Amino acid sequence: MIICRTKAEMREAVRGWKRAGETVGVVPTMGYLHEGHLGLVRMARQKADRVVATIFVNPTQFGPNEDLTTYPRDEARDLALLEAEGTDAVFLPNVEEMYGAGGDTFVEVPGLSAILQGALRPGHFRGVSTVVTKLFNIVTPDFAVFGEKDYQQLTLIRQMVRDLDMPLEIVPHKTVREADGLAMSSRNVRLTAEHRAEAVQLSRSLTVAEELAKSAPAISALEAAVRQSLAEAPSGKVESVDIRDAETLEELSGMLDRPAVVLLAVRFGTVLLIDQRVIAPAD
Ligand code: PAF
Repeated sequence: MIICRTKAEMREAVRGWKRAGETVGVVPTMGYLHEGHLGLVRMARQKADRVVATIFVNPTQFGPNEDLTTYPRDEARDLALLEAEGTDAVFLPNVEEMYGAGGDTFVEVPGLSAILQGALRPGHFRGVSTVVTKLFNIVTPDFAVFGEKDYQQLTLIRQMVRDLDMPLEIVPHKTVREADGLAMSSRNVRLTAEHRAEAVQLSRSLTVAEELAKSAPAISALEAAVRQSLAEAPSGKVESVDIRDAETLEELSGMLDRPAVVLLAVRFGTVLLIDQRVIAPAD
């Protein structure tokens, strides 16, 4: 496994593969890898001849009140996990290498950046779309794999790639879950035992929505059912329950008449958990 700390090293590795006619898949991450990320790596392996994982804790997607310095990091463990998956190269730049003296140019998808999580975290998605564009320009992948867990991020990146004619395919990957259904996240380790036990209610409430959706109910009834189910996790502070068009994330009203995504954000102590599921009326 090649470890590239500079853009030049990364470009050099990819150049060699492309010369040999090989395709490249990339899995962008912020490190502290878990089974969810490894699922993305395996998906990239199925799609492409060569797999690059990137590890970069991107400062431009953290708000002033979000602590970048306490973001968990474990480079040695991450590298061992990636090596065991047969990853061909890891791109591990530092902030200086990534942004240098510049940093005056941004890529933004204004509509999708301003809603939902974007409204709660101003500037977050501008940081994501900018760093992802930079990673695409450095790695020049044929495929990039993103988890459905960060559904708004996935939707926004798809839109960006379409709008800017970026020459690659965005490959979505289903949310990887613990045995009890909790979506895998590097934040899960920060849950207390009590919160961890209650956190399972997020995925349970999504199952409630999925079942109810089959009978094409009113959107308001779906939301009420999800909130009622989440109330079974009394320590969780429900920050948002949104039911949106699964393609565009536009607001829905009236009866459920198309695929929709249920997006949840629930806070346990200081840990904000998110989860999502696409639901649809039965045919
Ligand atoms: O999903 C993440 O881990 C990050 O937002 C990403 C896509 C690696 C960009 O920094």
